[in-house]
Amino acid sequence: MVSPMPKPRVLVTRRIPEVGLQAIQAYAEVEVWEGEGPIPRDVLRKKVASIEGLYCLLTDVVDEEILGRAPKLRVVSTMAVGYDHIDVDACTRRKIPVGNTPGVLTETTADFAFALLMAAARRIGEAADFVKAGRWNAWDPTLFVGHDVHGATLGIIGFGRIGQAVARRTTGFGMRVVVSHSRPILDETLRQTQVEQMSFDRVVEEADFLSLHVPLTPQTEYLINQEVFHRMKPTAALINTARGRVVDSKALYAALRDRTIASAALDVTDPEPISPEDPLLTLPNCLVVPHIASASVATRTRMAVMAAENLRAGLVGEQIPHCVNPEVLRT
Ligand code: NAP
Ligand code: GLV
Repeated sequence: MVSPMPKPRVLVTRRIPEVGLQAIQAYAEVEVWEGEGPIPRDVLRKKVASIEGLYCLLTDVVDEEILGRAPKLRVVSTMAVGYDHIDVDACTRRKIPVGNTPGVLTETTADFAFALLMAAARRIGEAADFVKAGRWNAWDPTLFVGHDVHGATLGIIGFGRIGQAVARRTTGFGMRVVVSHSRPILDETLRQTQVEQMSFDRVVEEADFLSLHVPLTPQTEYLINQEVFHRMKPTAALINTARGRVVDSKALYAALRDRTIASAALDVTDPEPISPEDPLLTLPNCLVVPHIASASVATRTRMAVMAAENLRAGLVGEQIPHCVNPEVLRT
């Protein structure tokens, strides 16, 4: 009797939605890190020694050191669209394809960016805290007066999938949308989306709400810094659903404290998780939530399955459906 081919070994670095796990179990022998919180680095270092597939999350730094300890590794699949936690060049040098989950989280993340925008404009977090603290005595014409969303100018930095999805949401609010993008936007796209492309500086200066949608790269690290805050309107709000390190958080603290800008709403922080002692958390005009922009049941399920499909393709040597370094499989 011919014994069946052993299944490839896979490490999943956190509990993921069940359908994603079941999809992986169909083709691999799976170990899931079941501990509380992200897999500790020393555990990851040991466990990668014997695996062929790594299914990771944005909390796992996959760098030269980890890859150097994973001689059998054939694919890295992250359950995220952002892949700044992975040294893609190091993977490419080792001919390891890297998969991510673009598209399936675009609309959910854009919904959330817009929710943060509305919350910052109308001071919803502050007002809810006020009620919970038992401080609501009477209707007051001066209580939590914020800024209108309708008719305002939205500045978008990074006009990719999520940036465009956020722009689409402004139609019913009659907003003007100005964008800064890495390259010229086609006339046809400008017509369809009804946005104006401008220099970064002009977007920053004209925006009532500035929403960030760039990936974290060496070029975008601390893109939003003290100089930028001083260019912004004193009534403006910063919305960050991109990555914490796109913003200089010390400069943000100073800008919010001194009212150089009016408010900020952050889904992402630097570092993550933000320390409970972080001065940003002392500011009433700063809303911080724990990196949940893509967290709807349907979207997290789609992300889990998409990452499982990427992993499977990488293990069998097929072109990964969503690959950030497709050149690996062409050579
Ligand atoms: P995307 O489609 O690749 O869009 C990002 C766009 O930003 C790209 O078109 C890119 O252009 C452009 N860009 C890069 N550098 C720029 C710069 N300096 N100035 C202006 N534009 C620049 O990615 P996406 O799917 O929209 O996701 C964007 C990011 O959002 C992800 O990388 C991730 O970090 C973050 N995200 C966060 C959450 C969350 O839960 N908070 C959820 C999803 C995504 P080029 O292609 O020319 O480089
Ligand atoms: C979330 O932050 C993602 O990049 O998917």
